[in-house]
Amino acid sequence: MDRTDERDEAARVDAAGEPLRIDAARLLDRLDALAQIGAIEGTEGCARLALTDEDRAGRELVVAWMRDLALEVTIDVIGNVVAVLPGSDPSAAPVMTGSHIDTVRTGGRYDGNLGVLAGIEVLETVRSSGTVPRRPLGVAFFTNEEGARFPPDMLGSLVYAGGMPVEVALDIVGIDGARVGDELDRIGFRGPAPCPGLVPHAFVELHIEQGPVLEHEGLDIGVVTGVQGISWTELTIVGQSNHAGTTPMALRHDAGYVAARIATFVRELALELGHPQVGTVGSIDLHPDLVNVVAARATMTVDLRNTDEAVLADAEARLAAFVTDLADAEGVSVTSRSLARFEPVEFDPGIVDLLEELVVDDGRPHRRMPSGAGHDAQMLARVCPSGMLFVPSRDGVSHNPAEHTDPEHLAAGADLLLRAMLRLADA
Ligand code: GLV
Ligand code: MN
Ligand code: MN
Repeated sequence: MDRTDERDEAARVDAAGEPLRIDAARLLDRLDALAQIGAIEGTEGCARLALTDEDRAGRELVVAWMRDLALEVTIDVIGNVVAVLPGSDPSAAPVMTGSHIDTVRTGGRYDGNLGVLAGIEVLETVRSSGTVPRRPLGVAFFTNEEGARFPPDMLGSLVYAGGMPVEVALDIVGIDGARVGDELDRIGFRGPAPCPGLVPHAFVELHIEQGPVLEHEGLDIGVVTGVQGISWTELTIVGQSNHAGTTPMALRHDAGYVAARIATFVRELALELGHPQVGTVGSIDLHPDLVNVVAARATMTVDLRNTDEAVLADAEARLAAFVTDLADAEGVSVTSRSLARFEPVEFDPGIVDLLEELVVDDGRPHRRMPSGAGHDAQMLARVCPSGMLFVPSRDGVSHNPAEHTDPEHLAAGADLLLRAMLRLADA
């Protein structure tokens, strides 16, 4: 056995010589406590839109847990929080994990939260075992991963990885007219640490699948190979409001009609392009929004995703052409604003192989799979070798308070995260 093997071996056992394991009950307790903040009554889910009072309360709880463990906690200029457990080599870059604790307005309790709290659990397990890996271990929660309040999604990790200047990010205005920088100040989370942030040695994120594949195939773990490309567009259609009873159909400039036709086109486009193309119109806002008035204005969003950049670009072009023709025919104007555009990301083959090896060693039925959802790891992949593990989502439901993952799978995922981080920390 050479020195690295010995160190690896030491890092993987507790004082009794047993492999290190996370404390599943403690992880579940923390998930439950965090889910009480912004809890949606009568459900298991929560609503903590980014940089709201609920997000602030969630952040304060998680930071308190990090400080209780005496981790070195830093908050950066965009409100990302990173907590580090020192390693034996002070000059070594950390192995990092993390995710997000903001949610959509109708969120579940696991999306993002699992990755952050499993990361804290890993650091606590390592600390209490007395093991000191060579590299520091870090856990982060990144600001506004959901993008549901402030576009784009993965904003904090994008800025962390140098993909957007911080001044641009601070100036983003959300769906309620609030500005990112003002809201960060208001909740007390605009910190002093610079962005781009410290480049990790590697980044591994644990997340729920948020889709049906693992459950359907009876598998415990997904080893994520990459994340599909994401295109978010906001369309504002301006027509003319008029009397619903007196205006002949041929004389209308109906923004509501145009929005509805675009929504059905998005559906047909995704079906025509076929799997894995998906298309969603998640928001339509009509004005004046009254039963007997032809709508003068519609503001709507289109979310298009595909693992293939060329097909995604084709979908965008076809949508734009359809919108132009329809606007001409109805006599309305349409303005288009890009809210998010990220190309597909492939995770590091070495990290993917390592994660798969650990899953196989653990005897877990698994598969390799792409991610349909966006994740902070796709931003970290810009600066360091990155990868992800998925655990199953019941009925494939997510972005819904009914989101659920079995405790056994939560623990299995966190244990694999522990092993992955220790392996990378001693490499
Ligand atoms: C973010 O979670 C997204 O995939 O929309
Ligand atoms: Mn998420
Ligand atoms: Mn989400």
